[in-house]
Amino acid sequence: PEHPLPDAAPPGDLATLRHLATDCTRCPLYGPATQVVFGEGPADARLVIVGEQPGDREDIEGRPFVGPAGQLFDRIAAEARLDRSTAYVTNAVKHFKFVQRGKRRIHQRPNTSEVSACRWWLDREVTTVDPDLVVAMGATAMGALTGKATGLLKRRGGIETMTDGRPVLITVHPSYLLRLPDPQLRERETELFRDDLVRVRSFLE
Ligand code: URA
Repeated sequence: PEHPLPDAAPPGDLATLRHLATDCTRCPLYGPATQVVFGEGPADARLVIVGEQPGDREDIEGRPFVGPAGQLFDRIAAEARLDRSTAYVTNAVKHFKFVQRGKRRIHQRPNTSEVSACRWWLDREVTTVDPDLVVAMGATAMGALTGKATGLLKRRGGIETMTDGRPVLITVHPSYLLRLPDPQLRERETELFRDDLVRVRSFLE
């Protein structure tokens, strides 16, 4: 069956959620993926950081943001004096979506039905960790957390209200910075991203 899991919230602890997620079949993405990549970080984190979905490295290692985007994030976060290890880091979608091209697996954006199926997990992670602030990196996370996935570059840097009333700071995804071909634009956008992370740090101070 597509939805073998109960709709009611399971016992509110991350270990249980993580364990249940290993068998998730709420959307078809579990098929081709190697494994579920659940969020990680302290259960009492004051900050939850949400990306799009695991990439190739994350799918293999089973941990979020360990590949190129994660390494860039770690570097810029360190410059912003934001300590990633104090945050709970997760993704809007927990399985890698890709198309195979020869030996390479090319990332594909999750669609709205995959994102909404996986909100079941994201909602429970956020409710369980109960942070003071959530950060949405990129349009997919922004859409999952606010219900509206358009207008990222106009909304970035702003703090909005999530459907549950919690504050969510909108910013771009680090992969966006990696994809910018023009070095000057990349540098400018990287500075803006760093500014957003500084805002995150001061919000929590
Ligand atoms: N990109 C994401 O959105 N999440 C990851 O975990 C890795 C890359």
